[in-house]
Parts: sequence; structure tokens; C-alpha cells
Amino acid sequence: DARKPILAIDGPAGAGKSTVTRLCAQRLGLLYLDTGAMYRAVTWQVLQSQIPPEDEVAVAQILPTLDLKLCTDSQAQLRVYIQGCDVTEVIRTAAVTAHVSTIAAQPAVRSALVKQQQRVGQGGGVAAEGRDIGTHVFPDAQLKIFLTATVEERARRRMQDLIKQGETQISLETLRQQIAERDRKDSSRAIAPLMQAPDAIPILTDGRSIDQVCDLIVQHYQAINDC
Ligand code: CDP
Ligand code: CDP
Repeated sequence: DARKPILAIDGPAGAGKSTVTRLCAQRLGLLYLDTGAMYRAVTWQVLQSQIPPEDEVAVAQILPTLDLKLCTDSQAQLRVYIQGCDVTEVIRTAAVTAHVSTIAAQPAVRSALVKQQQRVGQGGGVAAEGRDIGTHVFPDAQLKIFLTATVEERARRRMQDLIKQGETQISLETLRQQIAERDRKDSSRAIAPLMQAPDAIPILTDGRSIDQVCDLIVQHYQAINDC
């Protein structure tokens, strides 16, 4: 149902936003919108085009021809396309992660992607996650959640994800530093920095399972729906 309330989930890297938002969207019958994937896709295209990520003018020039699309496949997994080409996996590489906060701080990038996100959410019915959903993209969202976890816990989660993917070269301390650095960049940028909206409900996820966090969010959503 397109008129269902919007669920906005923000928070730092590794808080569990993607995992939890996708599951909540499935349970609540909402369209899942991963805005981080969109910033990653732009970053991938910039690197692919051999544009220096700091070159704002050159980055802005590729935006009109980007043709970025998000789709959900038959297993309810998100797939990301640029010019019809599936970039779902390549946007998760370390090279993209290292440059995404630089790209995401650029005004032209943010204005293009936010417009696209707002079009998707026009009629309601979306569960969107990112850094600025409750503060800028959908400031009137009926339910806003700010998902957090300590940086140590987030580094441990990232480490487990990497080990599962067969990547064991990186140390926990390096991961912790990378996450802290991205938090710093995302929270200190001039436009739409990562912050909790005044009307967001904070959920600290340390020591909570994915299911427990989802249950909590679904309860909040059903409560606003009953009003
Ligand atoms: O999954 P992970 O937490 O690593 O990050 P992500 O959600 O995929 O987002 C990647 C990057 O995109 C973030 O570090 C931000 O720099 C940027 N981002 C943003 O600026 N605004 C959003 N709404 C979502 C992501
Ligand atoms: O999107 P974001 O970067 O906020 O986090 P994510 O990529 O969804 O989640 C990072 C990892 O934490 C995943 O491996 C989840 O399974 C795990 N996790 C979680 O998301 N929530 C918990 N309460 C516990 C673990």
C-alpha cells in the first residue's frame, strides 16, 4: 500500500541499518530503500571513470548520465544497477568504502540522490535507511529510528562479516579506526551530516539480536499505524 507511513532509519556504519531495515520492510510490506548503496554506486562510477574523488566539478558532470536503479530480486535482496549493469557486489569493495564519504559530502551528489530518493517515497510506503533520512530526505516521516552501537561492537560485526567472506587480513583495530574515521567525516560534513533527528527514537543495538531490534521497530510502527 503506497499510503503506508514512511519508516526512516539512520545511524552510523555497522549499526545494523541495512539488515534491520530490509527485514522490517519485508514484515511491514514496505519498499526497502538503501540510500548508502546509492552513494556507493556513484563512488564506484567515479572510480571506474578514473575521476579523482575530490574533483567536485568532474564528479558533478557524470551525475546527469548515471542512470542509477535499485531493484529487489526474487529473494527480496536489493540489486543496484548503473546503466543497466549490475553493480550490487562491486559497490561493497574496500576501494569504494574508502572514498564514499568524500563523494557523499559533495552538494551536487547529495542533491541528485536526495531528489531520486524523495521520488521513490512520494506516495509513502517505504522503509529507507541512511544518514540523513529523518533529518533531510523524509523530515515528515511518521516513524524515525536512530540505530546505534558502540564503535567496538560495530568493528566486531564488520570483522565477522569479512571473515564470512573469506577476508582475514585486516585487524580489528584497523577496522575500528576506519569506522571511527567514517563516523567523523559523515558527522562533520557541512550538508546533511549524520545526526539524530529530534523526533527520532534511539535504539542502542549492543547486546541485542537482529530479531529483537526488528521486533522493537515493528512494534513502534504498528503503534503509529493504530493511531
Ligand atoms: O553499510 P555502511 O554502513 O558501510 O555504509 P552505507 O550505509 O552503505 O553508506 C556508505 C556511505 O554513504 C556513508 O559512510 C556515508 O558517507 C554515505 N551516506 C550518506 O552520506 N547519506 C546517506 N543517506 C547514506 C549514506
Ligand atoms: O547498514 P549498517 O552498516 O548499519 O549495518 P549492517 O551492514 O546491516 O550490519 C552489520 C552487521 O551487524 C551484520 O552482519 C548484521 O548481521 C550484524 N548485526 C546487526 O545488524 N544487528 C544486531 N543487533 C546484531 C548484529
